Amino acid sequence: MIVMIGGIKGGTGKSTVATNLAAYLANQGADVLLLDVDPQASAYKWAMRRQEQHPDAPKVNTAQASGRVFDVVRDVAKRYEHIVIDSGGHASDAMKSAMLGAQKLYVPLRPSQADLETVGEMVGMIADVQALNAGLEAFSLISLASTNPSVFEAQEAREALREVPGLILSDSVIRDRKIYRDAFFEGVGVVEMTHNKATPEVQLLAQEIFNG
Ligand SMILES: Nc1ncnc2c1ncn2[C@@H]1O[C@H](COP(=O)(O)OP(=O)(O)OP(=O)(O)O)[C@@H](O)[C@H]1O
Ligand SMILES: [Mg+2]
Repeated sequence: MIVMIGGIKGGTGKSTVATNLAAYLANQGADVLLLDVDPQASAYKWAMRRQEQHPDAPKVNTAQASGRVFDVVRDVAKRYEHIVIDSGGHASDAMKSAMLGAQKLYVPLRPSQADLETVGEMVGMIADVQALNAGLEAFSLISLASTNPSVFEAQEAREALREVPGLILSDSVIRDRKIYRDAFFEGVGVVEMTHNKATPEVQLLAQEIFNG
């Protein structure tokens, strides 16, 4: 499976989702490559921290690419069971080019007006790519949702996203939990940290992507 985490909005949790999926797959014994096409390379640096600080942890292979990365995606797809692609938060050649090689695209969005306003442009870009890569399935994913049960923004955003043609709403919701930041800093996935509420969120998402 070649799954890309993308979107034209910055800071929506893309690298957090990408690294957690990669760690999940590694713990399943899968052969996984985390391919970072964002020049900021947050996901790549996470994988480097992982290799340095947790040399015995299940292996997450990593690589960086920039520019027109379609050929890179095609090439690595021959060598790994799963590729998780992390891209930067703006419309770039790398993002569009990686989408051409992906099978699934997940677009994390915070339940905020500023993030939801980017959906129209994203849907247009996805349609352009699907004209060339008809197999691409695109999903929206609510991320950084409040854990406060009296805050209904995530539910409201989900209702709005359900109506968006061209984007399938993920069943999973990633909430704003400190453990995601801690795991990112430590070069691990939340599934590798002791009992926590983020683990089932990542498991549900991963099962949807890789078993669905
Ligand atoms: N579910 C979460 N819970 C708590 N903190 C989160 C969560 N997701 C992301 N963060 C934090 O929010 C910030 C932005 O997250 P992240 O880097 O994953 O976003 P991004 O979409 O990859 O950003 P960019 O567009 O810059 O690549 C980081 O500080 C990250 O640790
Ligand atoms: Mg990022």
